[in-house]
Amino acid sequence: LTAESYPSVQRLTQFKKLSPEDMTFFQSILSGSEILQATADEDLALFNEDWMRKYKGQSKLVLRPKSVEQVSQILKYCNDQKLAVVPQGGNTGLVGGSVPVFDEIVLSLTQLNKIRDFDPVSGILKCDAGVILENADSYLAEHGYIFPMDLGAKGSCHVGGIVATNAGGLRLLRYGSLHGTVLGLEVVLPNGKVLNSMNALRKDNTGYDLKQMFIGSEGTIGVVTGVSILTPPRPKAVNVSFLGVGSYEGVQKVFVQAKQELSEILSAFEFMDLKSQKLAKQHLKDVAHPLEDEYPFYVLIETSGSNKEHDDAKLEAFLEKAMDDGTVLDGVVAQDETELRNLWEWRESIPESSQAGGGVYKYDVSLPLKDLYSLVEAANERLAEKGLLGDSDATKPVISAVGYGHVGDGNLHLNVAVREYSKEVEKALEPFVYEFVSSKNGSISAEHGLGFQKKNYIGYSKNEQEVAMIKQLKNLYDPNAILNPYKYV
Ligand code: FAD
Ligand code: MLT
Ligand code: ZN
Repeated sequence: LTAESYPSVQRLTQFKKLSPEDMTFFQSILSGSEILQATADEDLALFNEDWMRKYKGQSKLVLRPKSVEQVSQILKYCNDQKLAVVPQGGNTGLVGGSVPVFDEIVLSLTQLNKIRDFDPVSGILKCDAGVILENADSYLAEHGYIFPMDLGAKGSCHVGGIVATNAGGLRLLRYGSLHGTVLGLEVVLPNGKVLNSMNALRKDNTGYDLKQMFIGSEGTIGVVTGVSILTPPRPKAVNVSFLGVGSYEGVQKVFVQAKQELSEILSAFEFMDLKSQKLAKQHLKDVAHPLEDEYPFYVLIETSGSNKEHDDAKLEAFLEKAMDDGTVLDGVVAQDETELRNLWEWRESIPESSQAGGGVYKYDVSLPLKDLYSLVEAANERLAEKGLLGDSDATKPVISAVGYGHVGDGNLHLNVAVREYSKEVEKALEPFVYEFVSSKNGSISAEHGLGFQKKNYIGYSKNEQEVAMIKQLKNLYDPNAILNPYKYV
């Protein structure tokens, strides 16, 4: 959808349009490869369009600085000239926050991508914001450490991007949120000033913890250029099992059993419903599903520890119990690294599989565990009532409405796979989903943020006083509102 199809959004006249003088300035501080300009043949689609191909901006200029000093010069100039800017990492965000809405300049961190320092005693990594997550993890692997978060977009998303989003991912259950693992940040403020807070201390109670404001700020108050993060030792033994379960009650029971039996070695507990696996089967085509028969729910359990024999024995005891009492109906355990990757693939490929039919409406919510799956049921009922749900009818706009997510964190993903984006489907789901979540005291964004998609719905999860304080902070850091305009604040 382009900005014009959202009548509620108007280009703000307070922002200047790009002029030849502005280009002269950018050319004076950046070299050729650091500037990408739209031409008759090049519409900068890679930077204007988001991963879901749902949001499309019209930026005519992408700047790709290689140094913090350049980021600072760019922002100072844009602030003085009132040129709007969208910070962009790997552009894998799922709420339309990483792409421009109109002609904002894209400030891409792709070329600010060096590892700065690693201390093998403390496990503290310092790197530029533009380092790709998978590259950071591979670097750490060489030193016997692991990046304390993982997610399906690891091959594209940036360390700075996940910090700006406060992404959760697949192992939050084990390593906690970035609010805990990030020790320091370097941030360029909209006026060009560099806030150097690249702390490498685990404990520091000298006043406000300023970095926390930028974790999850979604590029609205500063551009993250450097990250200091505490990384744990890489586990020597990893097991993955993929289980079939008969009901959502069963999933909760397995979760309790897993916590009790696997305790300190449990590193991921993910669930998927049957419809999500059907979409994945269509997408992965020739790959055989890990379980021969179909089950209403599937659970992926990962353990990570330091002693394979010990972990194997624990996993075996847990599985025996869960199968004996009938909670787990069938299951497999990966026997080698390839099988392990293959089992994860059935979980990690759901986002791509949901998107493959044309588009996807995504709802990433926190709910009390007992109510987690009820949203998927309610959404299916509503779409069926409105005559929109396809399941086996190819003439309907919705292909399937599926549920999966990070049970261990109380985080559900409802994905409504569609043949194409349409106002009719969107209206059936919004604000319905947000009202449902709010009625259960949940959060309308567990980990993806608010971005553009949920900009009008913050009130479902934050009260008036909280929203007013967010606005005050935005005004304090970014009085000209040049950073990521038209988004949630
Ligand atoms: P972008 O998409 O480029 O940007 C995201 C937001 O951060 C934007 O608002 C942007 O303006 C801002 N931003 C980016 N870089 C900076 C910076 N250096 N300084 C200031 N602001 C910046 N998320 C989860 O939480 N858990 C998951 O399990 C998960 N899995 C995913 C799987 C797939 C296949 C995909 C496509 C996405 C997934 N995500 C997940 C979404 C997640 O938000 C992103 O992958 C990641 O957090 C964004 O990183 P990025 O570098 O691509 O940032
Ligand atoms: C996931 O858990 O797979 C991600 O948050 C991405 C998504 O839901 O699309
Ligand atoms: Zn997720």
